[in-house]
Amino acid sequence: MINDNLSSVAKSIVAKHKGVLAADESSPTIKKRFDTINVTSTEESRRRYREILFSTEGIENYIGGVILFDETLRQATQDGTPFAELLSSRGMVPGIKVDKGAKPLALFPEEKITEGLDGLRERLTEYRQLGARFAKWRAVIEINEHDIPTRFSIRANAHGLARYAALCQELDIVPIVEPEVLMDGAHSIERCEVVTSMVIEEVFAELDAQRVQFEGMLLKPNMIIPGMKCVRQESAQRIAEATIRCMTRYVPAAVPGIVFLSGGQSAEDATEHLNAINILGPHPWQVSFSYGRALQAPVLAAWKGQESNVDAAQKTFLKRCQLNGIAREGKYVRAMETAN
Ligand code: 13P
Repeated sequence: MINDNLSSVAKSIVAKHKGVLAADESSPTIKKRFDTINVTSTEESRRRYREILFSTEGIENYIGGVILFDETLRQATQDGTPFAELLSSRGMVPGIKVDKGAKPLALFPEEKITEGLDGLRERLTEYRQLGARFAKWRAVIEINEHDIPTRFSIRANAHGLARYAALCQELDIVPIVEPEVLMDGAHSIERCEVVTSMVIEEVFAELDAQRVQFEGMLLKPNMIIPGMKCVRQESAQRIAEATIRCMTRYVPAAVPGIVFLSGGQSAEDATEHLNAINILGPHPWQVSFSYGRALQAPVLAAWKGQESNVDAAQKTFLKRCQLNGIAREGKYVRAMETAN
């Protein structure tokens, strides 16, 4: 029996033109982002920044879901409306990051395992009461040109992702399953494709073994892209072809949507790559975005912590959301970046 509620929430997040805003930076991560614009990270500055994002008019046409951090799910607008309520009243599904971060994997130097399964059922129960209808768990897969990741680290991370996803579905929460093969390093696009393929194949084997319903989840993978230090960078066309080859082979058609992470790509590249991937469609799943940095970096640069810049920051944000909405249809061109 398919859980209709889970699949309808998943589908609404990736409805036409729509994707996900990842605004779930933990307190240490948002501090790093604020440091780049000389803003002190306090509970109030974090609240105000998120309020600017969530209250931007028009984004509801392009944003189907917003991932929040624990603190943000408990915060409210200036006039006291809880953020989860604000988002749902505007047609955007509130979600929550539930992992506790990637830690060193014991006896596997340089590799990571994501923590956070202990007590997860209880935390999910509370988050649902606070309004969250979907969740996110990020597994971090380190990569080099030779021997990393190991088979075991892939297996351990896939197992954790499936444990998390099963708990979510038990509690009527849509899991976003995020195995991220990092962009750091000098590896080629071919190496990224081999590693990502192994990872996604293993993730779906674990999800299936643990009885997770593919219809009631979303996959959040990296695109197939060369490492940032690779001497041979690739065209959007090549990135799109490799990405779709990998996804077509390893992502079941029952999954309603693939929402790519941006992972350190510039805002423009992330949009262009999503566009190129959609040009190759139609695909069996909706192909969309779940961007953090690629949606927010231009907004932070426009805001700089100044109230007088709020209008400009919201305009910048709406434009990025719009352009990614257009990229979902394969109709984006770079010239749109400079057009009003
Ligand atoms: P980026 O798009 O900045 O990679 O963030 C997405 C995310 O949610 C990472 O977990």
